[in-house]
Amino acid sequence: MAEKIQISINDKIVKVNKDTYLLDAVKKAGFGIPTLCYHKDLTPDGNCRLCTCEIEIKGRRKFVTACNYPIRDEIRVFTDSKRVKEHRKLLIEMYLGRWPEVPIIQKIAKRLGVTESRFKSSVTDDNPAACILCGRCVRACKEFMLEEILGFAGRGIKRHMTMPFYEVDPHCIGCTSCAYVCPTGAIKIVDDLNNPFDPVMIRNHGMKINAEMATLDKIQNRMREVGTANIVDVMNAYDLLPVHNYKFGSHPETYKIDSKMLKAKYFTQGMADGCWKGCSMACAKTVDGFRLKTGPYRGQLVSVDGPEYETAAGAANMGCFDGDFLVEFNFYCDTYGIDTISAATTIAFVMEAFEAGIITEKHTGGLKLNFGALREVLELLHQMAEGKGFGVDVGQGIRWLRKKWVKEYGADEKFLCDISTESKGLEISEYMTKESLAQQAGYGLANKGPQHDEAWLIFMDMVNNQLPTFEDKAEALYYFPLWRTLFGLMGLCKIIWNDIVPANNKFEKEAAKIPEHVNNYFKFFEGMTGKELNEQKMLLQSARVYNLQRIMNLMLGFGTREHDTMPYRAKGPVTKEEYVSRAERYDKQLKEILGVDPEGKSTEEKMAILRKYREEQYEKVTDAVFKRRGWTKNGVPTIERLKELGIDLPELIEIIKNHQE
Ligand code: SF4
Ligand code: SF4
Ligand code: FES
Repeated sequence: MAEKIQISINDKIVKVNKDTYLLDAVKKAGFGIPTLCYHKDLTPDGNCRLCTCEIEIKGRRKFVTACNYPIRDEIRVFTDSKRVKEHRKLLIEMYLGRWPEVPIIQKIAKRLGVTESRFKSSVTDDNPAACILCGRCVRACKEFMLEEILGFAGRGIKRHMTMPFYEVDPHCIGCTSCAYVCPTGAIKIVDDLNNPFDPVMIRNHGMKINAEMATLDKIQNRMREVGTANIVDVMNAYDLLPVHNYKFGSHPETYKIDSKMLKAKYFTQGMADGCWKGCSMACAKTVDGFRLKTGPYRGQLVSVDGPEYETAAGAANMGCFDGDFLVEFNFYCDTYGIDTISAATTIAFVMEAFEAGIITEKHTGGLKLNFGALREVLELLHQMAEGKGFGVDVGQGIRWLRKKWVKEYGADEKFLCDISTESKGLEISEYMTKESLAQQAGYGLANKGPQHDEAWLIFMDMVNNQLPTFEDKAEALYYFPLWRTLFGLMGLCKIIWNDIVPANNKFEKEAAKIPEHVNNYFKFFEGMTGKELNEQKMLLQSARVYNLQRIMNLMLGFGTREHDTMPYRAKGPVTKEEYVSRAERYDKQLKEILGVDPEGKSTEEKMAILRKYREEQYEKVTDAVFKRRGWTKNGVPTIERLKELGIDLPELIEIIKNHQE
């Protein structure tokens, strides 16, 4: 709980949190004071001095600028004392003398009872859109866009705002953050290289995102500071981090690869870093000057792009809690062109099979592939890239390995199926889905398989508890994949949709959808094309593509219910040690949801009951989602659905007509 401090404002007693800015406290107490350089989305600067108030602290009075004065003592505040009024009047007279036609200056002067200035400036500027040197644009460029393109030059009356060397800086991306915060309209953006239909519409909505990013990211996700690595900390805390081939959801050594460790020991920029110019989220991170210990570049100093969440979580999944390992694994996956998620999940599966005795050193070419085998994992990665040894097999992925081990080594197929953390042949991205039915189906029922950009339901379901009922989950599994399809169709990044949640989102009717951000995307589409987009139209066009994808799956021999399954490891505890690790939670579920008393039952019995229930839940959610999508019970689009969508083309009907039962 924040420390409270009692202060008086014009003799009104109020309590405020320590470090509240005086301007906020004054406004909250119902008093008004003029501001000019202040902007709600920017760090206060205190340069115009119009918000000056008088405070009394320990019996002494002094002037402070309210916008950047943090309250730390029991002060008395006078917002309208005689001295304050005189001070403000003097200031606004000077402003008026220099910029007599600027509306915001005129407005404040009028409010303070000043109609004329006694101070005639030698550089009076009659332009109503003159620059009044408030510095908001400089701060916006720095804080919203992480650039320092704008700055002040000159001294005294020659002071002016400019870009370096008075030239248009090529780093300026025309984001208009500066224009958005300018109180006079001094900044005009004229360059529209992509010829959008309505650039103002795009900018106005993009601007909101930039402002939210600048003000909320530091308190919500710290994407600018540590990138997606912040998710490692969250997932570990919520027992959702994949550990040991998704057996467990947290680990005591996670601190060795979490965002604190990465920031303290590895990330080198010390600043936000975007993967494309203009992204105000800037979640990319880099490790510079890293000396490699293995592989073809051993001994060399390299720069490593990352690590991001999935790579760190992949390391946890392999039980490799070591920062140096993580960075080296990241580097070589990137260098070899190997997907970190598929590699880590496959190796975690191999490790479990190794520990279970399904494969031995005889099969691995001598590699002791226990969880946490750092050196061996890197050796295996090099083998995969070079097409040598056991790496040749591991590079084929989980499904291929499972088939080979069953066929050639007589392995227990049921157990291997249970721990095969793949669906549709794609390795599951690094989120523990066991406790989230919505996320199990989010992966399993995705046309393209359990890919990481289908992973957001876990946050809504488990972390934010936005999908409490079965119906909520089914509806989410209809809406969100279509919403995801829109990102793909528009070629837009998904992260800025939901990684920052607007401050007032909780008051929205459908908060899980982040409606304000959805609308930003619609307006972007409209601003680019001139065609209106709304939720109904978005769902229609995405559903056309989604159903077409499903029919293509069918053409390739997939696209039916049997291919929408998830291994039981993704739904519940396969082994006794998993059940025991969460016994309290599972026992509670047996008792409260199924009405089964766990007392006196063996772990095996309890596991069997839980499994039956969870498998049924998955089937039920599958039924509900297929119905909502307009598909048959076998997961094939109905002819009626294609008609509704206007894509009942003869060649498509031909493909689905024998699957309508
Ligand atoms: S348009 Fe954006 S990048 Fe360019 S100067 Fe303004 S704030 Fe900076
Ligand atoms: S251009 Fe606008 S925002 Fe920038 S210093 Fe001048 S008045 Fe302030
Ligand atoms: S608004 Fe506080 S100093 Fe300008």
